Amino acid sequence: MGVEVWRAEAPSNIALIKYMGKAEARSNQPANASLSYTLDHLVSVVEISPNASPFDEWRPLREEGFSPIELSDKGKERFLSHFQFLKSEFQISGGFTIRSANNFPSDCGLASSASSFAALTRCAYNVGLDLGRPKEVVEAFALEELSILSRKGSGSSCRSFFRPWALWRGEGADGVQLPFQRLHHQVAIIEDGKKEVSSSEAHKRVLTSELFNGRTTRAEHRLQQLLSALNDQDWKRATDLVWADFWDMHALFETSSPAFGYMSPKSLQVLNFVREVWRELGDGPMATMDAGANVHLLYRQDQSQIAKRLGAALSEFCQVIGSPGLIGERP
Ligand code: PMV
Repeated sequence: MGVEVWRAEAPSNIALIKYMGKAEARSNQPANASLSYTLDHLVSVVEISPNASPFDEWRPLREEGFSPIELSDKGKERFLSHFQFLKSEFQISGGFTIRSANNFPSDCGLASSASSFAALTRCAYNVGLDLGRPKEVVEAFALEELSILSRKGSGSSCRSFFRPWALWRGEGADGVQLPFQRLHHQVAIIEDGKKEVSSSEAHKRVLTSELFNGRTTRAEHRLQQLLSALNDQDWKRATDLVWADFWDMHALFETSSPAFGYMSPKSLQVLNFVREVWRELGDGPMATMDAGANVHLLYRQDQSQIAKRLGAALSEFCQVIGSPGLIGERP
């Protein structure tokens, strides 16, 4: 008898140049390349075990230190259909039970699709190593290829296979060597619960925005500038470019048809706090926002004091989740 339960974990990631809009809708081919920093402290875990039926099913995983995920029917269908696809890639047959959980609360508006789809892809690969036929074919899958497979389930998950930096262009992501190998991360949780417009819907709607004209060129240009700013260790310049890119994405949302938005008065307050810190110290965190109201902050290692100070101020009016050792709850 081989192993009966396979398990894999994968981290989340935060994009500094955003993936927004698809060139090819069904397979999550992005309209532009994106760059992300991997968030090692925000992790999803997936366990797969054979069941007695010919069908696959999904269940929340209950384990200390993890919050069971609550998936909608649509969410389950998406997760299971990605598993079906992986089973055919790795030539696995039979019915399985998939269990998953995050080490961060699932109701706090933190996107978990990147980490959970990456963990599912990794876990199915582990099953494939033991049960897939022929074994050599499964063994030959490199990390870059797992990233491509994962992209088909959830676009941003393809960046979660590399750390600390991942660059996703076209089919899949790859690691990229950049300075700032260890950054502190905090996220100000402004809104919890379900978003009115999912990121899948956002990818479609932004194509209707007048501002989508030129988005691909702008994002590409900004990416090149950001890579060079990071390589030059020019933190201020990198911060400005990251700031511009998330506003660019949010402007697409606000000018889509029908228009929508995630920015809330509290998000703006957090962003103003960040600006205040920069104004006062001439230094501060890199701020960015995904398709949601939460504000992500990245700090250099030598900015721990700033992180503690800003984290404490933000904790006064919202929940803050942070890298271990910083102000902000550990997930
Ligand atoms: O992977 P998706 O389809 O959930 O898209 C994620 C899009 C953003 O989080 C808004 C930006 C990004 O690049 O992660």
